[in-house]
Amino acid sequence: MRSIDVHTHLLPAEIPRWSERFGYGGFIRLERKDACTARMVRDDGTFFRDVTSNVWDPAVRIAESNEAEVGVQVLSTVPVMFGYWISQPRQALDVARFLNDACARDRRKLLGLCTLPLQAPDLAVEELTRCVRDLGLAGVQIGSHVGRWNLDAPELFPVFARAAELGCPVFVHPWDMMGQERMQKYWLPWLVGMPAEGAQAISSVIFGGVLERLPELRLCFAHGGGAFAFTFGRIQHGFESRPDLCGVDNPRPPRDYLGKFWVDSLVHDELALRLVLRRFGDDKVVVGSDYPFPLGEDRPGALIRSLADLPQAKLLVSNALAWLGRSSEGLDLDASA
Ligand code: CO
Repeated sequence: MRSIDVHTHLLPAEIPRWSERFGYGGFIRLERKDACTARMVRDDGTFFRDVTSNVWDPAVRIAESNEAEVGVQVLSTVPVMFGYWISQPRQALDVARFLNDACARDRRKLLGLCTLPLQAPDLAVEELTRCVRDLGLAGVQIGSHVGRWNLDAPELFPVFARAAELGCPVFVHPWDMMGQERMQKYWLPWLVGMPAEGAQAISSVIFGGVLERLPELRLCFAHGGGAFAFTFGRIQHGFESRPDLCGVDNPRPPRDYLGKFWVDSLVHDELALRLVLRRFGDDKVVVGSDYPFPLGEDRPGALIRSLADLPQAKLLVSNALAWLGRSSEGLDLDASA
């Protein structure tokens, strides 16, 4: 059975020199080394990450997907491209529009998620509408926070409301990880900070009442929801013992929201996957691989496929269709095709 992988990243083959256009730095550019490899470099010259052509070349991406029994990839930009820090809203919109125009794909094997200038929520609402209605993108990817705003920020609510109104799914990806000043070694921002960002994002959405006010909103959190599944008991107990701290914006307990959002399967561990399935429900876990990056699952969906007692069809395909809000019609999911 071919799967839908909801967590894959892409970059355009060429990225404009935004720093030259806007007159200040902080942007990422791609420096090609040869036809198949490039370096992601900040415009102050500091190195971010090596990438290979599968991040920008759809033909390579599709060939590798076919080999891994992935029928459909959901594409999103690399979180370092979010640009939420850009102080001029129109420039942030320009960057998002460029990435979104480059994300529109064939809709049979590659479904794009847009990115938004969330620091300017009115422009973000406009761009989300354009991407879904005009470009035919499948949904939107957002960060686990936007500068100083967590996802409960009132400023961001109109964006969630618009996504709910458009019926488009929202993928929440950790980025700009907390605590980095004490995490310079051992890749800790990615290993420890990212799961903390996931727990923070889900907690903010629940305590902030986002899902209470928008029950039809379809959120999916990357990396199995980060540390939330394991930390849930503490979060629930905190709500019960200190409602004066936790229940200030939403009187309903966190446990009421289990099963009301999706998470991907990228946890690299059987016990963790089983916990996630028990916690969120086996109809709320979808394949997510972080393709083509090194912390991803080398063969997308392999952990799920290795556990024969799990409901394969739900986890590989139908849960993702429910999150995307569509049928399988027109998607390349037929193994015999
Ligand atoms: Co990712």
